[in-house]
Amino acid sequence: MDGNGRWATKRFLPRVAGHAKGVDAVRAIVEACAARGVEYLTLFAFSSENWRRPADEVSVLMRLFMTVLEREVGKMSANGIRLKIVGDMSRFDPKLQEMATKAEAQTAGNTRLTLTVCANYGGRWDVMQAVSKMARANPGVTDFSEDQLGPYLAMAYAPEPDLFIRTGGEQRISNFLLWQLAYSELYFTDTFWPDFDAKALDLAIASYQQRERRFGRTSAQVLDQKKAS
Ligand code: FPP
Repeated sequence: MDGNGRWATKRFLPRVAGHAKGVDAVRAIVEACAARGVEYLTLFAFSSENWRRPADEVSVLMRLFMTVLEREVGKMSANGIRLKIVGDMSRFDPKLQEMATKAEAQTAGNTRLTLTVCANYGGRWDVMQAVSKMARANPGVTDFSEDQLGPYLAMAYAPEPDLFIRTGGEQRISNFLLWQLAYSELYFTDTFWPDFDAKALDLAIASYQQRERRFGRTSAQVLDQKKAS
């Protein structure tokens, strides 16, 4: 969700106004995804590197997370949304940690859309914490297969993403879901996150629909497979 700061600066507003507007965009995109039958939506809200920002911006973001949890969880539940918060939460205010745990429990039974908010998350952190857990669970074992790591990743409950969208003009992964993005389609747009609406989402989906996902196979093989199914 990149571009909040620049959206605000362009309007001579403080950067935090961009984050507040970003929350409105989150609401709209969650609704739009649910309406389109998207079952998993994962938002990168705060990276492990975002602690390097000015202290007042970090604290505004923390307050914003709390407000969202306070105000929106009831509505999420009513709309069939299951909320998951993924990342190293230990560095967050204990109150925020408690609210996150409660919100997850409150929405755990919902099945329409799983909304994952990545907070203090980093793709490398995820791979390493998974490797550590896997090694601890298998004492003495030194050779592991790729399939064995999956269950230890923070988002083991979700399929790998079909589509990755980065707003705000940069063309980078920035330590997001490194393991899971191996075969995802990547989509980059100059639109700042606060302006990313249902129409912008549809453009991203239309772009995705034109891609041919070969997973290492040839185009002819993919066509044959399609014909057979
Ligand atoms: C990146 O834009 C955005 C963030 C670091 C914060 C994202 C947070 C929200 C949208 C609000 C809360 C969301 C949830 C799910 C509760 P930037 O500040 O790096 O923008 P810039 O590149 O223009 O400076």
